[in-house]
Amino acid sequence: MSPDDLKKLAAARALELVTPGMRLGLGTGSTAKHFVDLLGARVAEGLDVLCVSTSEVTEAQARALAIPMSTLDETPELDLTIDGADEVDRALRLIKGGGAALLREKIVAAASARMVVIADETKLVERLGRFPLPIEVVPFGLEATRRAVLAAMANAGAPGELVLRRRPDGSILLTDGGHYILDAHPGAIGDPERLAVALSAIPGVVEHGLFLGLANAAILAGKDGLIVLGSLD
Ligand code: A5P
Repeated sequence: MSPDDLKKLAAARALELVTPGMRLGLGTGSTAKHFVDLLGARVAEGLDVLCVSTSEVTEAQARALAIPMSTLDETPELDLTIDGADEVDRALRLIKGGGAALLREKIVAAASARMVVIADETKLVERLGRFPLPIEVVPFGLEATRRAVLAAMANAGAPGELVLRRRPDGSILLTDGGHYILDAHPGAIGDPERLAVALSAIPGVVEHGLFLGLANAAILAGKDGLIVLGSLD
């Protein structure tokens, strides 16, 4: 099976968690895209759900599939969010934001009674931090914020480089919220909770890609089948 087949397998298992009438959060990324495609097919067969997206890209995909869409203003409490992740550890702590959607992803996950992560098994790590940690920052005061983030990382025992994310054409990437992303390269994060607190205390930081205490379960697809961390109930 290809990595993409594995992502689809995890998405298909997550679709089994969806029941009629649910209010769903729809994630962003290549794995979540499979889930939205599969959900769209079920909606076409008559499944009744109401969804909120975590990015403009997912919003467009869902609308093209005629999935009924809402907003967190109209539907502020969701039953279940299904989203991908860049890294997952065995305590269900995540790094997210490889697709630059971390802010809306975290807002939607926090508004959901449950969040289930879908991924291929390569995303499972013993320790977070090999994948660059995205940190969303406001453009104003970028250099001051950059220095504060570097100091916070060092103080939290996770020093490393910070790289301003750019588009392939060299221009600075803007998130859906009009912010920049600094990708942190600590290599390993010994104490994610400590780093999360330190980053959140910096005024120019809008949000960071450490998702702690948000995921209830993870469905990880590998060549030997599905691994489930946490509880799908
Ligand atoms: C989007 O900002 C991310 O958080 C994605 O959920 C994450 O990057 C996983 O994406 P893939 O499913 O494409 O690996």
